[in-house]
Amino acid sequence: MSGSNVKASKGIAGMILAAVIGVPLFVYLLIKLFTSGSGVDITRPTMTTEAVSARLQPVGSIKVVDGGPPGSKSGKAVYESVCLSCHDTGLAGAPKFADASAWGARISKGFETLWTHAINGFNAMPAKGGSADLTDDEVKRAVAYMGNAAGAKFEESKEAGVATAGIAAIDPATKGKEIYDSVCMACHATGLAGAPKLGDKAAWAPRLKDGVDSAIAIATKGLNAMPPKGGYSGSDAEFAAAVHYLVNNSQ
Ligand code: HEC
Ligand code: HEC
Repeated sequence: MSGSNVKASKGIAGMILAAVIGVPLFVYLLIKLFTSGSGVDITRPTMTTEAVSARLQPVGSIKVVDGGPPGSKSGKAVYESVCLSCHDTGLAGAPKFADASAWGARISKGFETLWTHAINGFNAMPAKGGSADLTDDEVKRAVAYMGNAAGAKFEESKEAGVATAGIAAIDPATKGKEIYDSVCMACHATGLAGAPKLGDKAAWAPRLKDGVDSAIAIATKGLNAMPPKGGYSGSDAEFAAAVHYLVNNSQ
């Protein structure tokens, strides 16, 4: 008899204990649930807009390469300013600089495949290493520089001078007109999105005050509603011929 009384009183004591601790705990948790929102303290220094957006930056986000006129950088200069960030340490599986075993199989794919991959991107390798303002020739030079450091015998094209010679060899009146008719006309014939019209001297004069080469450099990179190279996918030299055609007929 007394044994079962002890058991019963233990049971009651347990229920009281549970009520004393459990009920306030439950209420506390409920209050917490409804007042704490997402549980993220936006006043923490790690939660500022800058800190958050810095964390959201993709790997290899656009870097601006400065110094020298556009297109004039050597392979070494491009490597050191852009490609090194991954290829020096082998980040994300990038073949390391001067590592002949990492580069051997890649070099045997041929120079053209390699620079095509470097310009357009290849798996975790971003297009132009993430620096959209590099010209195709600059990327090619960097590929030659990197390949040669790992045992290839690629030819690093001459800087700037050769590009200009290439421009002169492409006739603005024929090839330039052909590109204009197929690509640029969409905006530059009607003045779509504020494009300076073909033949509109007043619209072109202020854009040509620093010379046609400056306008080519600007248009190659893109300017506001003008997409890089007007969306033309051919070479920089061909694009330059199209600009010459536009300008020659607008002065
Ligand atoms: C954000 C990191 C990153 C940067 C910056 C970067 N690379 Fe790469 N690159 C890679 C990775 C990763 C690979 C390996 C891709 C694979 O094989 O899947 C690679 C591979 C390559 C290859 C070999 C492609 C092939 O077909 O095997 C070349 C050539 C190359 N990169 C050139 C460059 C050049 C030139 C630059 C600078 C303009 C550059 N990379 C900048 C990450 C990078
Ligand atoms: C989608 C419309 C569009 C296409 C296509 C286009 N352009 Fe443009 N372009 C523009 C606009 C808009 C501007 C003016 C941008 C500004 O000043 O804000 C412009 C400006 C220019 C300029 C002047 C840059 C400067 O220094 O002020 C040149 C040169 C040029 N385009 C060349 C071309 C050539 C060559 C092509 C064809 C290969 C082409 N564009 C295709 C919209 C276009």
